[in-house]
Amino acid sequence: MFTNETLKTAAAARALAEIRDGMRLGLGSGSTSTIFVQLLGQAWQEGRIRDIVGVPTSEKTAALARSLGIPLRTLPEVGRLDLVVDGADEVAPDFGMIKGLGRALLREKIVAVHADHFLVIVDETKLSPRLGLSVPLPVEIVPFAAEMTVAWLAGLADRAELWCEEDGRPIVTDNGLYLARCWFDNGIADPSALARVLADRPGVAEHGLFLDMADTLIVAGRDGVRVLRRQKGATAPHTESV
Ligand code: A5P
Repeated sequence: MFTNETLKTAAAARALAEIRDGMRLGLGSGSTSTIFVQLLGQAWQEGRIRDIVGVPTSEKTAALARSLGIPLRTLPEVGRLDLVVDGADEVAPDFGMIKGLGRALLREKIVAVHADHFLVIVDETKLSPRLGLSVPLPVEIVPFAAEMTVAWLAGLADRAELWCEEDGRPIVTDNGLYLARCWFDNGIADPSALARVLADRPGVAEHGLFLDMADTLIVAGRDGVRVLRRQKGATAPHTESV
């Protein structure tokens, strides 16, 4: 029987096949990335993959990779990455994505822009005809006057709120920042326009729209695992398979 967990594992296992000896790897965050790092660690310990170094996108991923013995470096130490493997919360047909519900979007985006190749691993439930339809958009914001930034976000979306822990305190990211979540009842009509508006706003550190960034998408579904590749700047439908 297929569970989300088995599909995530299938996607992560297929991503492992893309790893070559000597690669400088960006290591993503979230549950699918966690499975990938575990498989990578296993391959590393068994000597099936050699000479890799990892750059983690969160403290959680760093701790996991360290516990598995994967050599870690900072991004400035490696300079350029060969490949980033990361998950996503929602993926549109043009490979536009919402990321960050694993609370690590800012570092994920910084790491991704320094990589030659951005590989995204998801189960098929993440595919969506339009961004924002199935998940809220996370936005990392500066704590100073955060309520005012959230109020401004609420004017852009149908609803926005400061994302809090169960005890009511704001979530604090690895960067010491807060997170807001924005809901769009009918999805995001124009993700590129929204990304520009968010990027221009003081108080917004980074947003979870990852547009025109993913090169390869590995989708695990009940009918198998598909590898979809995209030329930068071009669009590719979910159904295209290579
Ligand atoms: C982390 O901040 C996110 O961008 C994750 O990549 C995303 O939340 C996917 O997580 P799962 O693999 O747990 O669904």
